[in-house]
Amino acid sequence: MRRFRPEAVPESAIAALLRAACRAPSAHNRQPWRFHVVRDAAGKMALATAMGDRLRADRARDGDDPDLIRQDVERSSTRINGAPVLIAVCLTLEDMDSYPDERRNRAEFLMAVQSTAMAAQNLLLKAEATGLAACWVCAPLFCPRTVQTALDMPDSWQPQGLILLGWPAEPGRKRDRKPLADIVTGLAT
Ligand SMILES: Cc1cc2nc3c(=O)[nH]c(=O)nc-3n(C[C@H](O)[C@H](O)[C@H](O)COP(=O)(O)O)c2cc1C
Repeated sequence: MRRFRPEAVPESAIAALLRAACRAPSAHNRQPWRFHVVRDAAGKMALATAMGDRLRADRARDGDDPDLIRQDVERSSTRINGAPVLIAVCLTLEDMDSYPDERRNRAEFLMAVQSTAMAAQNLLLKAEATGLAACWVCAPLFCPRTVQTALDMPDSWQPQGLILLGWPAEPGRKRDRKPLADIVTGLAT
């Protein structure tokens, strides 16, 4: 769901979503997820502008059509500024284990990614149960430093995604999923 009504989302509802997020399982129960909530127009604009600048620069370097770049930047900006609430979903490795070798550090990093994604899924499910609409946007992964700076977040918070949140402006579209037969092995049909 990417279009929202302008009504405010109560602070208590956002807190309930975040509490549900934090009930997720996590590797060693280290709870590596971190969340930064943005509700004010200036904060959204700062983020949209900074991310838009990076998107424009990346696509210009790719040699893309300037009109398409402009449309893409506008679309991104409209979405970010149009959401009543933004939640930047981050992870931190502060409490994760650390090893002398890259192989195990990589595994530990992936555990933090997986745990944080599970927390985000909880948040999305709680939003759905509350009648709120939400959409996970992956763009922060392409410009983590930009997001940290725009939102004044600690260096150790690694942005994983941005959740757009608000009351739904439309029923939304049910998207298909691949049939089980295409994605599962070992299940008798
Ligand atoms: C890791 C991840 C990244 C996503 N990034 C975006 C995104 O950048 N923009 C967007 O509009 N939707 C994004 N989505 C939402 C997917 O497009 C959406 O979940 C998918 O099309 C299936 O639709 P449904 O969740 O409504 O069933 C993302 C979802 C995930 C899990």
